[in-house]
This record gives sequence, structure tokens and C-alpha cells, in this order.
Amino acid sequence: MQLSTVAILFAFAIGGDSKCISIRRLSYETEVLKSDVESPYQLAIDYDTNTLFFSYTARAGDDMFKSAYLSLKTRDYGLVTGIHGGFANAVNSKSSIVYMGGEDGIYTFDYNAKNATNLHIKEANIWQMFYKDGLYFTTYPEEKAYFYKNDNVVEVPALQNVKVMLIAVTNDKDLVYSNSSGVFLYSREENKTFSLSEVVANGITSDIGGNIYFSSPNGIYYVNEKTKTVEYLVSLDNIYGIAIESNGNFIYAEESRIIRLKATKKACESNLPKLVQINF
Ligand SMILES: *[C@@H]1O[C@H](CO)[C@@H](O)[C@H](O)[C@H]1NC(C)=O
Ligand SMILES: *[C@@H]1O[C@H](CO)[C@@H](O)[C@H](O)[C@H]1NC(C)=O
Ligand SMILES: *[C@@H]1O[C@H](CO)[C@@H](O)[C@H](O)[C@H]1NC(C)=O
Repeated sequence: MQLSTVAILFAFAIGGDSKCISIRRLSYETEVLKSDVESPYQLAIDYDTNTLFFSYTARAGDDMFKSAYLSLKTRDYGLVTGIHGGFANAVNSKSSIVYMGGEDGIYTFDYNAKNATNLHIKEANIWQMFYKDGLYFTTYPEEKAYFYKNDNVVEVPALQNVKVMLIAVTNDKDLVYSNSSGVFLYSREENKTFSLSEVVANGITSDIGGNIYFSSPNGIYYVNEKTKTVEYLVSLDNIYGIAIESNGNFIYAEESRIIRLKATKKACESNLPKLVQINF
């Protein structure tokens, strides 16, 4: 009797947890942060205010896409007004500026009014943005990459003749970018492009330390800048985008939800050594 009770408790502790996800041998559990959002894309976190920004498909009114914010502290959620077709998001954390890209250019977000104001620096349809000592952004359908700093917009010099959907910049100022052919790394020092992966990325982000990660519909990947290779961190179905919290927890979007992967001390079953069957 005593033995079987122990066995049941043991089975409970390791089993029945289908949502335990293992990344780099650490265990994460899933937590739904937001449901009922259609196709959430282009996630970005403002680490100062602990706010997540993303876009989703609205199919209402004039706008196909809308920008939304979600406080990761209070869960306060709402739509951003004043932006036309809000899609892209990026944060300059040094100056606490939240940039949003819409159908007609780049906006900045106002936390008090929860609205956005068009900067009128490039009246194009903005697809994606990334901040690193200046604002990098791409346009659609042109698939061109630009850099904005000090009221000046230029095409990213190394990428003038190449299509770019998503762009991110490493701590060494190398460019990680994607297009329909895959994901690439342009090394500034070597003036050379390396192929990282043939997957079609749909989201790219950095953690608070500046490490680059991207997502594809099949999971989350880490870019190892030194070895110029990609590490496939976790296989997940139907991913739409990712962001990484200041404590390293992952946040990802799927078809109609936003999910947090929260680090846990509990071991996932797949991480444990295989158990032998014991008969009592
Ligand atoms: C944002 O809201 C503030 C306060 O309501 C208002 O003064 C401002 O005009 C709004 N900006 C835009 C671009 O709508
Ligand atoms: C994507 O970028 C790579 C590397 O720069 C380039 O070789 C390839 O032609 C590009 N693909 C498209 C569709 O432009
Ligand atoms: C980088 O390489 C390209 C050819 O691949 C060349 O046209 C260009 O001038 C080089 N740029 C620099 C800064 O060396």
C-alpha cells in the first residue's frame, strides 16, 4: 500500500505534464498571456515598462492590421490608436522610445494617451523593425532594408541589392536578416555573407544581452554569431513570432494566442533518465 502510494505520487510528479517544454536542458511551462487574438505578429518588449507590443489581424474597418500592447506586469491590454495598419514594433530602450511601423510609415507610441504619432520619416508600408543604435526597418512589398538615425534614412549599405524581410543586428554590428531564401548573417568585418538556415523566418528578436533569436512556423532558433551557425532550440507548431523577457523567459505567438514559456525547476519527462518498469 505504502509502496503504491509512492509510485502514484512519483508518476504524478513526472507525468501528465504535456505542456512541459525543454530548451537547452532547462524546463519551461506554458502560460497563456492572451487569447482570442488573430495571427499575432512582430512581438517586441519594452524592458523598462515590461510591456509587450505586437500586431494582429483585425479585418475590421479600414485596417487589416492593428497594433496592441499588453503589460506583462498587470496584464493591462489595449489597442493603439492613431496608427494606420500598425504592424511592426521595436524599442529603443536607452531612450525609452517605442517605435511602431504602419502602412504609411513609422510612428512613436505615447504611453499616456496609448496612441501613436507618425514621424513622417519614410511614408512606406513598414514590415519589421529592430533597434540597435538606430532604427533598422524593412518595407513591403519592396523588401528593402533601411536605417534611420538623426532624422536621416538610408538604405542599409550592405543590403542594397538583396531582398530583406526581417533584420536584426548583433552586438558586433553584424546583420542577421531573412528573405524567402532563408536566414543570413552579414559580417561587417569580413564584408561577407554567410548562410545560416534555409528556413523561412517569421519573427526575429534579441534578448536583453543582445543575442539574436528567430522563429519559423516550426519553432525557435538561436543565432550563434561566433560560429555563424543556428541552434534549433525548440520545435513548436504554428509559431507566429517571438520575444524574450529580461529574465530569459520566451514569449511566442501562435495562431490566436500569446504564450509565455516560463522557466521551472520541475524536470520535463523528456529530460529525465528513462525509468524502468517496477512491479509492486
Ligand atoms: C494622442 O492623444 C493625445 C491625448 O488625448 C492627443 O492630444 C494627441 O493629439 C493624440 N495624437 C494622435 C496622433 O492622435
Ligand atoms: C536572400 O539573401 C541572400 C543572401 O544575401 C541572397 O543570396 C538571396 O538571393 C536573397 N533571396 C532573395 C529572394 O532575394
Ligand atoms: C564588400 O564586398 C563587395 C563584393 O562582394 C564589394 O563590392 C564592396 O566594395 C565591399 N565593400 C567593402 C566596404 O569593402
